[in-house]
Amino acid sequence: MDERAERRLTKDGIRLYDPSDFAGMHRAGELAARILDDVAGLVVPGASTAEIDEAITRMVDEAGATSATIGYKGYQHASCISVNHVVCHGIPGDKRLKDGDILNIDVTVIVDGWYGDTSRMYVAGKLSRKAERLIQVTHDALFKGIEAVRPGNTFGDIGHAIQAYVEAHRMSVVRDFCGHGLGRVFHAPPNVLHYGRPGTGAVLEPGMFFTIEPMVNLGRPETKVLADDWTAVTRDKSLSAQFEHSVGVTEDGVEIFTLSPGGRFHPTWG
Ligand code: MF3
Ligand code: CO
Ligand code: CO
Repeated sequence: MDERAERRLTKDGIRLYDPSDFAGMHRAGELAARILDDVAGLVVPGASTAEIDEAITRMVDEAGATSATIGYKGYQHASCISVNHVVCHGIPGDKRLKDGDILNIDVTVIVDGWYGDTSRMYVAGKLSRKAERLIQVTHDALFKGIEAVRPGNTFGDIGHAIQAYVEAHRMSVVRDFCGHGLGRVFHAPPNVLHYGRPGTGAVLEPGMFFTIEPMVNLGRPETKVLADDWTAVTRDKSLSAQFEHSVGVTEDGVEIFTLSPGGRFHPTWG
């Protein structure tokens, strides 16, 4: 339960947090981002994704925080690790990384009741030219979306900025998964689509907290979920990439809660 009696909601059912709530989101976001920084050294050919996830579980524990994903709808891991043509929600397991594999690691932690949700791309060994291009376009598409975050713009403006950028590079935006409101909860309204038309959708207001987490495919946008009920893959087996930040709308723009403390958000940095 929330201690605060008064809770502000827009007509679209989107919660508006108070200026004093940004600090809690920064603490949660920073921990999630620091864990993603610290796990980078473990992403090497021969490592299994289960080993990487176990290290993440330990880091969450050592920080005195809670994993938001362990126990979420029956999910049993502290991260999702999505390799190559896996779009999202890859389940950590015994399979070992090979040289040139690209992977998204997605971590959500709870700190003092606040949720921090972020993901980024890594490479095991040597990054191929085509994977590097996909990763760069996906990263830059996330930032095109973030640049559209300011009061008075709409969620359609965010989606349009991402879609236009991706399609200009002849890649495709996944439609089957979206970003989401978060704050004192993991998933809340609105659905943050990574495609759309300018001026459509709810109007952004100061105090909205949500994720932007575009998934971009080298081939077609269609996905399917495997028999484990989690792992989403590209139907055409093409490579897929994703980056995710948790952000808050301010009076004049945006704050990113999940910036990398070590400046390592992109696999070729740091
Ligand atoms: N962190 C994911 C997101 O960006 C959700 C993962 S839910 C899980 O929303 F159960 F698969 F971990
Ligand atoms: Co998310
Ligand atoms: Co996430």
